[in-house]
Amino acid sequence: MSDTILILGACGQIGTELTQKLRSIYGKDNVIASDIREGNAEMMSAGPFEIIDATNQEQILGVIQKYKVNQVYLMAAMLSATAEKYPLKGWDLNMTSLLAVLELAKEKHIEKVYWPSSMAAFGPTSPKMNTPQQTIMEPSTVYGISKVAGEHWCNYYHDKYGVDVRSIRYPGIISWKTLPGGGTTDYAVDIYFDALEKGTFECFLSENTRLPMMYMDDAINATIQLMQADEESIKTRTSYNLAAISFTPKEIAEEIKKYIPNFTITYNPDFRQAIADSWPQVIDDSAARKDWGWRHQFDLASMTKDIITSLQAKAEESAEV
Ligand code: SER
Repeated sequence: MSDTILILGACGQIGTELTQKLRSIYGKDNVIASDIREGNAEMMSAGPFEIIDATNQEQILGVIQKYKVNQVYLMAAMLSATAEKYPLKGWDLNMTSLLAVLELAKEKHIEKVYWPSSMAAFGPTSPKMNTPQQTIMEPSTVYGISKVAGEHWCNYYHDKYGVDVRSIRYPGIISWKTLPGGGTTDYAVDIYFDALEKGTFECFLSENTRLPMMYMDDAINATIQLMQADEESIKTRTSYNLAAISFTPKEIAEEIKKYIPNFTITYNPDFRQAIADSWPQVIDDSAARKDWGWRHQFDLASMTKDIITSLQAKAEESAEV
């Protein structure tokens, strides 16, 4: 049977690029984008789109039946900084959507589920350097609590009901096509835009705050690679550690200065500093590399080059119109 894929949260930072990539692989009509509200003109014209509230199991089922969907990527979530402001809303969105999709998989309406976890599942008592796949996980944020709980639900549905659910603990994801919203790692996206537009950036984390990060292209490739891997190779049904690069605000600023020599950065840490301080600095992802062959491509230098040249080309294009 050929695959028909539903993406919940397709208009978000990762969902947007994941939808594009999956459409290029599976064909545009075999990838159904959905979100709680309509997306931009490009999203609405590029293939099938449905309005779905990811916490509404019946709505999800309706679309699954309409298109004969057999795989769901659940990308709708409230990120760390926003969830600290709205704890119960964050918990509700992150958990209710996951349980809705897992139940649909248990009832055999779908064959395969992708659900993202995060490095935020770790907490202040986890080892910060080379954080292992299995270690102490006592998160101090609502987002992190929802991710640890979600990981255990995935594992439970796999073990008890045979649900084929696969998951990755993403580090901070850096993109330039669609902006993130409400995360603690968002500074590493904002910095490129401000560097090009204003030549200066005020960072909400302190200069030496080291966090695990990854370029969007690598994150998308990892996600699809995991979903396409043979079932026998997936040994972890909570969620896989995934890593590429780790850097500090100071280090990314230095890299940007190679392209914009007059760029300046100032530091004004806010409540997000405590969130960042509770997370790992460098993650050990050897299990993902061994089990399903994960390899990252971008380091800080190649990512910065790609983002700056892409944003400059985009600015030139819109200046010409
Ligand atoms: N990027 C996310 C956040 O900052 C972490 O998974 O909330």
